[in-house]
Amino acid sequence: MKTIRWKINTGETDFLEAIEAAAAMLKEGKTVAFPTETVYGLGADATNPQAVDNIFRAKGRPQDNPLIAHVATIEQLKQLVTYIPPYAEKLIEAYSPGPITYVLKDNGTCAENVTAGLETVAVRIPDHPVALALLKKTGRPVAAPSANISGKPSPTTADHVWEDLQGKIAGLIDGGPTGVGVESTVIDCTGDVPIILRPGGITKEQLEEVAGTVVIDPGLTDQKEKPKSPGMKYRHYAPEIPLWLVEGGPSVLQKLIDKKRKAGLKVAVLASTMTCSQLEGDALYPLGEDLAEIAARLYEGLRTFKKGDYDLILCETFPEEGIGQAIMNRLRKAASNTLTAAD
Ligand code: TXA
Ligand code: MG
Repeated sequence: MKTIRWKINTGETDFLEAIEAAAAMLKEGKTVAFPTETVYGLGADATNPQAVDNIFRAKGRPQDNPLIAHVATIEQLKQLVTYIPPYAEKLIEAYSPGPITYVLKDNGTCAENVTAGLETVAVRIPDHPVALALLKKTGRPVAAPSANISGKPSPTTADHVWEDLQGKIAGLIDGGPTGVGVESTVIDCTGDVPIILRPGGITKEQLEEVAGTVVIDPGLTDQKEKPKSPGMKYRHYAPEIPLWLVEGGPSVLQKLIDKKRKAGLKVAVLASTMTCSQLEGDALYPLGEDLAEIAARLYEGLRTFKKGDYDLILCETFPEEGIGQAIMNRLRKAASNTLTAAD
């Protein structure tokens, strides 16, 4: 399959021309990747089971992992579900469009392979001009997981999508790098209080401001509990080479860098700009000054160091507050090993 790439970021393709062509493809049952405020998504008509199946095949995604239906407006969101509890109404009012996904009782409008046969459907209104224009033009819910090969880090640039899916999808709208950098917060809104199934762009603190009590799915932190969201049981975001998470700050990191270099390994380091400035190494990758910047550059960092050039990535840990919860959730899934200062 030849993948058409519309370069609206550089102005090579006209914005409206790209949106119209991409919407036409979606309506024909084809797959199109597009930018959102979090990561690039791989879209298909959520009401067409064959179209949705094209997503699973292109990504190599397990069939039991449901997809998020993307819509342009709150009215469209309401057309996909049977009931919205009052706290969820408040959250939807406060954070739409935005990096948050609501799991609600499904009314059967989306194809069965979108929800993987569950009684709930995940819906989100992305806060990105390209995504919103595409969704409005298509006029249907668009199922869209992150536009990466299953298991790899999510794509935050069109080049990442191209690297993974070129030749496997019909279209790619290049709208430049995404903003938030980690995926949306997924919250279960089917019970008495919202439950965070996946930490993401909207923080727990922001949810509490609007909804009061907010619970974190115990399956996210407790190894003995099964996560409520099917997708959270899979290993994810894995770089090409092993990633070790290192607790204990710059001095511990430096000792480990020196030890591994002495053993002949090519070591890359992901850390804050501040930490990098205190280290000595061959491949220091400063993620940013603050947690928002670190989130935005995290997946680019995970994709940068390739097999053959490097043997090991060492990454520091970050405070689990605000967007730091999402950063650490992704890093734990990406890591093959976690070292504490005692190690
Ligand atoms: O920011 C995002 O959410 C991006 C952009 C493209 O919108 N999308 C994204 O999709 O991250 P994906 O498929 O990579 O992750 C969706 C997550 C998975 O963990 C999946 O298991 C969960 O949402 N999910 C989907 N439907 C669900 C449902 N009905 N109940 C519980 N979890 C659900
Ligand atoms: Mg994903």
